[in-house]
Amino acid sequence: MTEKAGGKRALITGITGQDGSYLAEHLLERGYHVAGLVRRSSSSRLERIEHLEGRVQIVRGDLHDQSSLVRALVESRPDEIYNLAAQSFVPTSFEEPVLTAEVTAVGVTRLLEAMRQVAPEARMYQASTSEMFGQVRETPQRESTPFHPRSPYGVAKVFAHWATVNYREAHGLFACSGILFNHESPRRGPEFVTMKIARGAARIAAGLDTELALGNLDARRDWGHAADYVHAMWLMLQREDPRDYVIATGETHSVREFCEVAFGCLGLDWKTHVRVDPRFLRPAEVDQLVGDPSRAREELGWSPRVSFEDLVREMTETEARRLRGSV
Ligand code: NAP
Ligand code: GDD
Repeated sequence: MTEKAGGKRALITGITGQDGSYLAEHLLERGYHVAGLVRRSSSSRLERIEHLEGRVQIVRGDLHDQSSLVRALVESRPDEIYNLAAQSFVPTSFEEPVLTAEVTAVGVTRLLEAMRQVAPEARMYQASTSEMFGQVRETPQRESTPFHPRSPYGVAKVFAHWATVNYREAHGLFACSGILFNHESPRRGPEFVTMKIARGAARIAAGLDTELALGNLDARRDWGHAADYVHAMWLMLQREDPRDYVIATGETHSVREFCEVAFGCLGLDWKTHVRVDPRFLRPAEVDQLVGDPSRAREELGWSPRVSFEDLVREMTETEARRLRGSV
C-alpha cells in the first residue's frame, strides 16, 4: 500500500523517540497532518525531530496526566493515534518498577480512556513488544504464543496489551497492537546494546577508547530496522478491522555476533576489545527471541527490507562518521 492518505490527521505519543521520529517522517510523506505529544523536561529532547521543525504540531502532555491526554486529543483531532510513549529500557524498569508501571501500563489505560471519551472514532496503535514472550513457550513466537514476561517492563507491556484488547472488545474501539521484536537504527538510544556496540567500536577505531564493557553476550534477539517497522504500524491502521500482528525478521543473532560484525566492519577483532562486566547482567534475562511474521506478511503484505548485516554496518559506520564530525 503506497497511496497518499491526504488530509488524514495523526497523533504520535513518543514522537521524540527512535520510532516516533521515523513514523513522523513516514506519515508526512503520505500527506498526513502530524501532531506529537511531548512532555516537559528541563532541557530540550527534540533532536530526533529537529529536521521536521515547522512540519509537526507539538502538543504538550504526559502519559502520567489524564487531563493532558484529553486536551491533546481535542487539540490534534486525530484520525489515527500511535501510542509509542513508554519507559522503554528494561534495566531501568528493575530500578524504577512503579514508574514503569505508571507510564508503560496505566498510561495506556489513561490514553484509551481519553480516546473513548473524546475521540471514539479514531484508530489506535499500541506499541506492544516481544519482551512479553520473555521466557519463551515456543519458537518462533507468534500472535498465539503465551506471554511470560521477565521484567517490570515486560509485565507493564502485557497489561497495556490486554487493556488495548479490552477497549476493543468492551467499547468497540479500533485499537490494535503490533508485537514488535527489537528494531534499531542510527537513531537508537545509546543505552541499548546495539548502539552501545556501534558507538563503542567506532570510539575504539578512532583511538578514543580501548575496551567496551558489556553484559550477556549469549543473549539472542531478532533485530530489524526501525524504518521498516514503522511502516508495519501504519499498515495495521489501514486495515478494515483491528487485529494484532507480530512484526519480526524471523532471524535470530547473538550479542556476540553483533559485536563480530560491528567491529569487523571497522577492521577490528571484537575479542581483543570486549569484556564482560557483571554490572550489565540482568536479574532475570530473556535468553532468546525470534518471531514468526507470517500473519503480517499474508494480511498486511509487510516484510522487512534491511538485513542484519546491513543494519549493523549502517549503525557502526554512521557512528564512525559522527565521530569524524561528518554527520
Ligand atoms: P524510545 O526511543 O525510548 O522512546 C520513548 C518515547 O516515550 C520518547 O519519546 C519519550 O519521551 C516518551 N515518553 C517516555 N515517558 C513518557 C511520558 N511519561 N509521557 C509521554 N511520553 C513519554 O522508544 P522506541 O525504541 O522509539 O520505542 C517506541 C515504543 O515501542 C515504546 O513504547 C517501546 O516500549 C516499544 N517497543 C520498542 C521496540 C524496539 O526495539 N525499539 C520493540 C518493541 C516495542 P522523552 O524523549 O521525553 O524521553
Ligand atoms: N542494554 C544492554 N547493555 N544490553 C546488553 C548489554 C549491555 O551492556 N550486554 C548484553 N546485553 C543484552 C541484554 O541482556 C539483552 O539480552 C540484549 O542485550 C538486548 O538488550 P537491549 O538492547 O537493552 O534491548 P532489550 O531486548 O532488553 O529491549 C529492547 O527490545 C524490546 C523488544 O524485544 C527495548 O527496545 C524494549 O523497549 C523492547 O520492547
